[in-house]
Amino acid sequence: MGKAIEAVALEKGHQIVFKIDVSNAGDFTQALADQADVAIEFTGPHSAVQNILKCIEYGLPVVSGSTGWLEEWNKVEAACKAKNSTLVYSSNYSIGVNLFFEINKQLAKLMDPYLNYDVSMTEIHHTEKKDAPSGTAISLAEQIIANLGRKNNWINDAACNPNEISIRSERIDPATGTHTVAYSSPIDTIEITHTAHTRQGFAAGAVLAAEFAANKKGVFTMKEVLGL
Ligand SMILES: NC(=O)c1ccc[n+]([C@@H]2O[C@H](COP(=O)([O-])OP(=O)(O)OC[C@H]3O[C@@H](n4cnc5c(N)ncnc54)[C@H](O)[C@@H]3O)[C@@H](O)[C@H]2O)c1
Repeated sequence: MGKAIEAVALEKGHQIVFKIDVSNAGDFTQALADQADVAIEFTGPHSAVQNILKCIEYGLPVVSGSTGWLEEWNKVEAACKAKNSTLVYSSNYSIGVNLFFEINKQLAKLMDPYLNYDVSMTEIHHTEKKDAPSGTAISLAEQIIANLGRKNNWINDAACNPNEISIRSERIDPATGTHTVAYSSPIDTIEITHTAHTRQGFAAGAVLAAEFAANKKGVFTMKEVLGL
């Protein structure tokens, strides 16, 4: 993602002041942070929180796309607010997926009274992906839970209780990311699917979020970035 984001940012005329990866993580100092308008953080579940907290501490707006760390969301959000800093977080920066999120919410609202439909989800990614289910799948499940009265939990398993949404994770190369939400009744099935063809969509959305974050204070999602 770092390489894809760099390519989009340069193409849009931005300057990359520094690049941090696992080999030079110790070089990220206040002095370095002061040279930048915004940081874009796509590392992984085990490093995201410390990286985001460092940006917050340095007063550098941060756009994070790392997934698999949301159990620490409250701590990170509180730190951002306490420091009057800036965080944009999305489990998926693709503009198409964010439109898909809105369709998912609307569909859950429409299906709420029709109790003979059960909802389930599938997500397919490449075999290098470290977390399951995907952050995008968790976002989709949470949107369904907020809008469909009969579900209050999700489970990363094919089998589930009636109050749970089953999320099935498949790891197949070179899948870039497919998410399906299916409502099935004995009579028919209604499915919505988003398939990413390249990583370009994530990178374009992340750079858009960085442009948005550079002169804002607070905690935002792609919903605000895209004005949805
Ligand atoms: N939100 C989205 O739209 C979106 C899209 C794609 C991927 N992702 C997520 O972004 C993350 C990165 O994905 P990727 O495919 O680029 O992974 P990757 O493994 O190809 O790259 C991760 C990079 O992070 C660096 N890194 C690891 N630990 C670090 C640390 N402690 N400090 C600084 N840098 C560190 C590594 O050196 C590597 O360059 C994953 O969590 C993935 O699920 C999110």
